[in-house]
This record gives sequence, structure tokens and C-alpha cells, in this order.
Amino acid sequence: MSDSEHNARAWGHVVDFFDHERATSTQVYASEWFFLKDLLREGISVLDVGCAQGGFAGVLAENLKDFSYTGIDISPEMITRAKARHPSRAFHCVNESDWSAIAGRRFDLVLVLGILHLHETWRDTIARAWSHTAGTLLMDLREHEGPTIEDKTVSSFRMDFGGDATGACVRLPYVIVNSAEALAVVRRSSDGASRLSHYGYLHPVSGAAMTPMDKVMTNVWCVQR
Ligand SMILES: C[S@@+](CC[C@H](N)C(=O)[O-])C[C@H]1O[C@@H](n2cnc3c(N)ncnc32)[C@H](O)[C@@H]1O
Repeated sequence: MSDSEHNARAWGHVVDFFDHERATSTQVYASEWFFLKDLLREGISVLDVGCAQGGFAGVLAENLKDFSYTGIDISPEMITRAKARHPSRAFHCVNESDWSAIAGRRFDLVLVLGILHLHETWRDTIARAWSHTAGTLLMDLREHEGPTIEDKTVSSFRMDFGGDATGACVRLPYVIVNSAEALAVVRRSSDGASRLSHYGYLHPVSGAAMTPMDKVMTNVWCVQR
């Protein structure tokens, strides 16, 4: 099984978690809201990469009257639930490396939140997301000052945080990027950007993380054309 197939199945263990989480403005993290509050404009088009149950469609609806929203996700279970929850929005199940469902489309705002530290091909995902960005790309990384850790046998994430005990032995990589490398990757991936900002804070690692670090920088990056 490829990493992409493994990861897609892994997220199937925690679908229920998103029944109640990350769906309202109050559940948006301070580091995300720092940028998001100034990016919301009537009529905006939004692509949400790793949309889960489409929670950000709900967040946007709390703050805007008029917007278009497209969510993509590697988990078929998440996409089924998202379509039921937000029937007027567009959702597509994709492969980590194949976003042909949105080929040729660019969006005013692209969100890539809560996924980059949890899959192997995160560098490619940043570049792919930027290629669909007409205006602003908002994404988060877990960072520290030491060498980048991306070996799953050293740093991993257990998929039982939604209450499904069978997810305990299912692991994703828990990627902690050296901060200088994070800057280099973001710069390299965002050709033509006019402005690059980041905002974050030192935060204890998630309880589901099995990693040598106690705390990481949770850093949100805002890249604008
Ligand atoms: C932690 S949740 C984040 C949900 C939402 N973006 C948020 O911030 O609340 C991760 C979601 O992203 C999806 N996902 C993980 N890796 C992905 C990838 N490489 N491409 C697209 N979706 C991905 C998972 O299936 C899951 O639904």
C-alpha cells in the first residue's frame, strides 16, 4: 500500500471527531485567526485542502454572506460526511499527488491547515497548493530549531484521538521542520509571491504525538501573490 493510501485510510479512524470540532469561528486557532480575519471578503473563492467534514465552510458562513467554497480531502469517509453536512458546497476526494478534480482552477484563498505535519509529501503539497492560489495561501507547520524530523519511526501520530481504539496502532508521520528549512521550502514553493508572513507560538505537542519533542512552534504561514 502506498503512503497516500495508508494515510487516507488512517483518517477514516477519526471521522467522528470532526462531528463537533473545527467547525465554528470559536474553534479556529488564534494563530489562524490572526491572518484569516483580515482575508475574509464578500464574494471570495476558497479552496480548503484537507477539509475533513468541511468545517471551514461553516466558519466562513458565520463571517460572510457570499463566498464559494471547494473542499478536497484524501479520505472518502470525510468527503461523504462533508457533502451531507454542506450540500450546497463542492467537495472532491483526491489522492495526495493527484488533484485533477480541480485542474486549472485558482482560488482567492487556499487553506492548508492541520495536514502538512501529518504526511510525507508535505513539500509537494505546499507547491501544489500554491499553483492553485490566485491570492493568498494560508498553511501551518510544526517547527523547531533542531534538524527536521520526518522519520515515522522517530516521530509519529496515533489515530485514536477520535475515540476509536483500533486507531492506536495506525500511525502517521509527525513532521517537525527545522525553522530555517521551513522558510526555505515556503520561499522555494511560492514563486511570484509578493509577501510572506508567519505567526505562531510554542505549544505542547498533541497528546496523540509520539515524538522526542515536548513543545513545538505551531506556525501559520501566509503567502500572498
Ligand atoms: C487534522 S484534519 C484537518 C481538518 C481541517 N483542515 C482543520 O484544520 O480543521 C486533516 C484532514 O486532512 C485530510 N488530509 C490529510 N492529508 C491530506 C493531504 N495530503 N491532502 C488532502 N487531504 C489530506 C485528512 O483526511 C483529514 O480529513
